Amino acid sequence: MRRKLAAGNWKMNGTAIALAELEALARAFPSPSVDVLICPPATLLHSAAKALGGTDIAVGGQDCHAATSGAHTGDISADMLADAGATSVILGHSERREDHGEQNDDIRAKARAAMDAGLKTVICVGESLEQRDAANTLDIIGGQLSGSIPDQSTGENLVVAYEPIWAIGTGKVPTLNEIGEVHDFIRARLERRFGEGVGRSVRLLYGGSVKPTNASDIFAVSNVDGALVGGASLKAQDFSGIIDALS
Ligand code: G3H
Repeated sequence: MRRKLAAGNWKMNGTAIALAELEALARAFPSPSVDVLICPPATLLHSAAKALGGTDIAVGGQDCHAATSGAHTGDISADMLADAGATSVILGHSERREDHGEQNDDIRAKARAAMDAGLKTVICVGESLEQRDAANTLDIIGGQLSGSIPDQSTGENLVVAYEPIWAIGTGKVPTLNEIGEVHDFIRARLERRFGEGVGRSVRLLYGGSVKPTNASDIFAVSNVDGALVGGASLKAQDFSGIIDALS
């Protein structure tokens, strides 16, 4: 039985003031019946981990470097994330793939480093609108899965997030059938590569314009084990609504 997961990705948003929202969230869900993860910007990681210490809400990073240390100005290693209190890291988000030219190989190397550091990884995959319109969605997702996910993956250290690029921050959401088709495909690919035991234990999140109003319908789709939430994770009330829908 896979435990549900609500993950919030704050992206490049949030200052110390936002920590008050986090604490409000922790008060609203002293013992959530689902896993809750917040990934604030790196500047807030340490204080978020401190503010949420003793609660069931975990904190994670939004990226890491593939090396453990060295001359990489501006980068953060997986060990540093763990040292700051993170237990997870998002990798391969489409905004990293686009803004920083990250390729599947880069993401796999980062994921290896994160797993070696004891972090859970949330590896993102998703197609552009052009790719969907050209009926290439499953080919694209298949390539991202085989290229980005390392061999050492297990149900403990890997979560896969399906995020259609055209649904991120746009208010557009695929149909429930479209979400189900991709999630079933990802599940089948994981089972084929890692065997049924591991393949069935990896949690699959949907991400892209998830709101309290559409969350219940999305969570009812087969092989959707939770959500990776951007905008709606910035307000404790909205994120609470999504956690409620998952509980
Ligand atoms: O990582 C989160 C996703 O990019 C979804 O963002 O909920 O603002 O559409 P959104």
